[in-house]
Amino acid sequence: MAKKYYPTVSEEYQKSVQKCKRKLRGLIAEKHCAPIILRLAWHSAGTFDVDTKTGGPFGTIRHPDELAHEANNGLDIAVRLLEPIKEQFPTLSYADFYQLAGVVAVEVTGGPEIPFHPGRPDKNEPPPEGRLPQATKSSDHLRDVFGHMGLSDKDIVALSGGHTLGRCHEERSGFEGPWTPNPLIFDNSYFKELVSGEKEGLIQLPTDKALLEDPGFRPLVEKYAVDEDAFFADYAESHLKLSELGFADAE
Ligand code: HEM
Repeated sequence: MAKKYYPTVSEEYQKSVQKCKRKLRGLIAEKHCAPIILRLAWHSAGTFDVDTKTGGPFGTIRHPDELAHEANNGLDIAVRLLEPIKEQFPTLSYADFYQLAGVVAVEVTGGPEIPFHPGRPDKNEPPPEGRLPQATKSSDHLRDVFGHMGLSDKDIVALSGGHTLGRCHEERSGFEGPWTPNPLIFDNSYFKELVSGEKEGLIQLPTDKALLEDPGFRPLVEKYAVDEDAFFADYAESHLKLSELGFADAE
């Protein structure tokens, strides 16, 4: 990973981060909302474009223009759920807050610990629509979209394991159902289900299936299906990268 130059934040800011983390744990445990919170954090960061250095995890997703992007259907719910906690921490940037919430969503559901570095500024300009992946497409599309974020094949497969949490909602994406039998537990069951084939009641999107069909992606899917420790280690690394796209890079 390229060297990062994290900004220094005040001791008070750091304390707010820690306190906010505890509040987020409580909210996410109480509301069982880890999946949609993780989706919010990912859709916030995943708009980064490595060439123009625009988009990325800088708090813009709360703006109605960006929430109205088709890929973000339903994410207004996550913004609304988080707002009462955010109000308690007015000094935190939304940028940090949403990424912290994503990290907590993974942790609270039993996933790996992901390091968190504060100091992201809030930006005003939402990214243009069309930077997030479309579920109906193939592996070329995944490489294209994630490539624009500056992410690799390994990042694509590891991060796709985020679908261990949550489900598709017909009214939001046109797809329906969870990927795994336990959508509130973060484990490697997404990959186990992918390898073992489609089952009644569980979903596999075309982009999920593309991971199995592509000779570059498949070996990683197979590895993560049998080795949860390897998945957790790679997921934590890729999630950290995602959460810091365009943040703390050398000029
Ligand atoms: C690889 C490309 C990806 C595609 C095409 C994709 C597509 C989708 C779709 C269609 C949904 C259903 C939305 C709904 O109907 O509510 C969804 C949900 C979700 N996605 Fe992805 N996704 C991708 C990558 C990721 C990544 C990288 C993460 C996180 C690291 C992630 C986390 C989630 C979560 C947690 C949900 C469940 C939300 C809920 O239960 O409300 N996805 N995704």
